[in-house]
Amino acid sequence: MSDGATPTLTEWLALRGGADERARRSATPQLLRHLGLGTTVPPQERLRVVDVGAGTGANLRHLAPVLARVLADAHPQRRDPAQDWLLLDHDPEVLGRAAELLVEAPVGARTAVATRLGDLAEVDLRDSADLLTCTALLDVLRADQVDGLVGALEVARVPAVMALTVTGGVELDPPHPADAPLARAFDDHQQRGGRLGPRAAGHAVQAFGQAGFEVLVVPTPWRLGPEEPELLLEWAAGRVEAAAEQDPSLAGTGRSWLRERSAQVAQGRLRAVVHHVDLAARPPADAPR
Ligand SMILES: C[S@@+](CC[C@H](N)C(=O)[O-])C[C@H]1O[C@@H](n2cnc3c(N)ncnc32)[C@H](O)[C@@H]1O
Repeated sequence: MSDGATPTLTEWLALRGGADERARRSATPQLLRHLGLGTTVPPQERLRVVDVGAGTGANLRHLAPVLARVLADAHPQRRDPAQDWLLLDHDPEVLGRAAELLVEAPVGARTAVATRLGDLAEVDLRDSADLLTCTALLDVLRADQVDGLVGALEVARVPAVMALTVTGGVELDPPHPADAPLARAFDDHQQRGGRLGPRAAGHAVQAFGQAGFEVLVVPTPWRLGPEEPELLLEWAAGRVEAAAEQDPSLAGTGRSWLRERSAQVAQGRLRAVVHHVDLAARPPADAPR
């Protein structure tokens, strides 16, 4: 990958997995407590979770153990609550890798996992889910797709945890004069074809608010430094590639920016904070399930 070739989605998800996990670690229990799942899911029942845009299953690996702890806290008589997960994605390659990883590193005897190839527009949560979740998904969606998800949650009265949505905020140390023009072009690229890009979290919060959900938003930034040279390098290369695709007049600036940034990575001198938010949305209290 750092040989200049663009990583596949599977490779990129593997590369970012550690940074995602660290960014979410302290936020997830707080988000789950906001949902009050301990009171909405009776102790004798399995928790049914639908993960949309599941990729290779990183969300399952992060969330299932935290869910188990939060539910066990709510129901001390059940120390290991059973969970049924459905991983949905429209990309067969990543879903195939998710299935392989489930064999290589099982998530635990009390967690059953199924995969389904399909589009999130097909999601019907009525009588089939207690929680919907997604990670690194909202910013690649269009407004109508996010509205569709919120609509499905509203109809089914199901809560959601939606993690790692980019906000567009990036801080680089040391700064560089080309940071700002490249950031503008990158953010425009994120919104190509009607995608929400950095507007995604705000749009989702508004849509949930209109549907009467109570939303908690928690910052979950990536903090990248000398410990993740490969991720920093791929992140910077991907940023330049997207910016130059959006605005070809930035191609030369982007190349020299990337040369300088690569040298700083090699010297262990580059740090980046890439801002994300996680959100938890709880259906209206008087909504019958
Ligand atoms: C950035 S990846 C995140 C994957 C995974 N959630 C993670 O955090 O590792 C976004 C995923 O959403 C999937 N995706 C995007 N649009 C989708 C849609 N309309 N229906 C189903 N999956 C979709 C992509 O195939 C991709 O696997």
